[in-house]
Formats: sequence, structure tokens, C-alpha cells
Amino acid sequence: MSQHVVADARHLPLSDATVDLVVTSPPYWRKRDYGVDGQLGQETTPAGFVAAIVDCLTEWRRVLTPTGSVFLNVGDGYHRRALAGIPGRIEAAAADTGWLLRNRIIWTKTRGNPDPAKDRLTPRHEYVLHLTPARYHYDLTGYAEQYGRGANPGDVWEIAPERSLSPHLAPFPVELARRAIILGCPRTVCTECGHVAQRITEPSGELDPSRPQARRAMQLAAEAGLTEAHLAAIRATGISDAGKALRTQTGTGRNSAEVQRLAAEAKAALGGYFREFTFGPKRTVGWTDCGHNALRAGRVLDPFSGTGTTGIAATELGRDYVGVDLDPRCHAIASTRSKQPALAA
Ligand SMILES: C[S@@+](CC[C@H](N)C(=O)[O-])C[C@H]1O[C@@H](n2cnc3c(N)ncnc32)[C@H](O)[C@@H]1O
Repeated sequence: MSQHVVADARHLPLSDATVDLVVTSPPYWRKRDYGVDGQLGQETTPAGFVAAIVDCLTEWRRVLTPTGSVFLNVGDGYHRRALAGIPGRIEAAAADTGWLLRNRIIWTKTRGNPDPAKDRLTPRHEYVLHLTPARYHYDLTGYAEQYGRGANPGDVWEIAPERSLSPHLAPFPVELARRAIILGCPRTVCTECGHVAQRITEPSGELDPSRPQARRAMQLAAEAGLTEAHLAAIRATGISDAGKALRTQTGTGRNSAEVQRLAAEAKAALGGYFREFTFGPKRTVGWTDCGHNALRAGRVLDPFSGTGTTGIAATELGRDYVGVDLDPRCHAIASTRSKQPALAA
């Protein structure tokens, strides 16, 4: 279900605790005049702009569910020949108002517009700040399956910019919103108890062959004739073989003498490479269920929805979407665009 509302991002016509994730890109400070009364981005100072963003964050916190969070795409800009430092100022102001900055993701652009400056490098990156009020839903396993062959793929997103045919710039590619939604928006939420379905996982025992360390670990394991029982023993005993961990893993500890023996054998054969098997990727074997049988789809909000990029990603991923923009023209643009494929720049 997709919905579009004309409103100010600081005064949302939405009930408390009804949104699972905010993914958005506000107007950048003094970069573009959208020509609508009350627009954000035209403040005379960086401090004024940051205060407006903090007002937005306060309002978004009201509409977020207890496991909700915010992915905020922000770039910097030059003012009187110096970078204004906008992302850093937003980070500091958000922290001062009780938000946790969980990631500062770098969006690196594989291409961009030519820049006339002769005395500095052309900016080719922006930030995606992941801000959370407290605990939050996060599907790292699902994300890693798609983007990291099961391993944590890190905080740099290399994504080509897209352009749209509309008068509004949409420098925010569908792929950026897609990643944020996979990470932060639950697939389903129980309407009776608020239960968010979580993956039930188990170690897959498979390593990522694109990583040299993993390849070497697999080679050593094969040479030594290690069995699945050896690898399971490594996973059971964990990474530490010193200090307190060693005491709990021996004698009366959790792991049986046989597991200890197999793990020791495997570690002797693998040396430091045994860690590869400890941190091996997991596979999904099911989802948690509260038993109420009253599920709704996760709901994504973009409070500066513009041409509706976030909505395209949300719909594709089976999430509900609400797009808010002060400009009434955006509604038509967003619904036309949702029927067309994105264009590469
Ligand atoms: C950077 S654009 C968003 C682009 C968007 N990601 C897309 O897919 O097109 C910023 C949008 O914020 C809107 N806007 C500006 N001030 C606003 C406010 N106070 N409340 C809601 N929307 C606002 C503008 O009309 C513009 O569409």
C-alpha cells in the first residue's frame, strides 16, 4: 500500500508509533529553491538549517514504532569557499537530542557532474546517517545474504547516481533506499502485540570463497581432513582460547570433552585461520512468530518524498509506504515515476 500526503516534514499528519522506518533525503542547505512556502534548506546559517533538521527528527521519533530508526541521506556543500560541515553538525545535534548514530555510511558515486573548480577535488560522496532512538530492528543477516555473500559488507555503498525527467532532482538512487529498507524495515509486524518477525538462523558452515583468508582456511581444513564435526566444534567453543573463556570451555564448562578435543584438533590444523569458521555466514531456517495471526507489512516513511524514490524501493520490497512532501506537485510526479523504470545518468 502506497500513500502520498502534502504536509511539512516537521508536522506529520500521522498517528504516534505507526512508522517502522524513515528513509529520506532533505533539501541540502542553500542548494536548491523548491519554490514552496515553508520549505526547509533556505535558512540563513548552517545552525538554522541543523535546528530545522532536529525539529524533523523530533517529529519522526513521535511517529516511529519502538523498533524504528532513520536513514538520513545528507551531503555537504561549499559556503564562502569552505565546506559547511553540515553532516557533522547534524550528527552532533542529533546526539545532543538523544539519538544514537549507529552508522555513518559513505555513499560513493561512481560518476557525477563536471565541476569547474580548479583548486580542489570534486566531491564524489555523501553520507547516509543511521540514527536510532534506542533499540531498533536490523536485518543484518538478510542484508549480508544479498550484499556480502553472508559476511558483513561494511559501511561504504558504491552506487551510481540516477536522474529523473522531473523538474525535481532525485540524486538519491532507488538502490540507496532499497539497502536502507532491507536493513531497517521489518517485513511484517503484528498488529496485536507489535511483534517484529525475526530471522531464525543457524551457521551455514559455508565460507565466502572470494576472501583469500576464507580460501586458505578451507584449503587447510581439506588438507587436514577436518570433518563437519570439527567445524561445528570450533563454532561451539568460540574464538577465545585464553583466560576466562578457556576456563569455561574446559572441565565443567558448557562444551563437552569430545567437543573440546575436536576443537583443539581443528585449531591445531588451522592455526589462526580457525576464526574463519567461527564467524562463518548464517542461513535463515525460519521466522519468529507471536502466534496472533494478525500481520501487517512493515511501513516506510519518506518525509521529503519528492519524486517518490523511497516508495519505489518500498513497493518492490513488499513494504507499505507513506510519502510526505510540502510541494503538492510531487504527488503526480511520484505516481507517474512509480510506473517507469529509473534512468541511469
Ligand atoms: C532532495 S528532495 C527529495 C528527493 C527525493 N529523495 C526524490 O526521490 O525525489 C527534497 C524534497 O523536500 C521537499 N521539502 C522541502 N521542504 C519541505 C518540508 N518542510 N516538508 C516536507 N517536504 C519538504 C521538496 O519539495 C523536495 O521535494
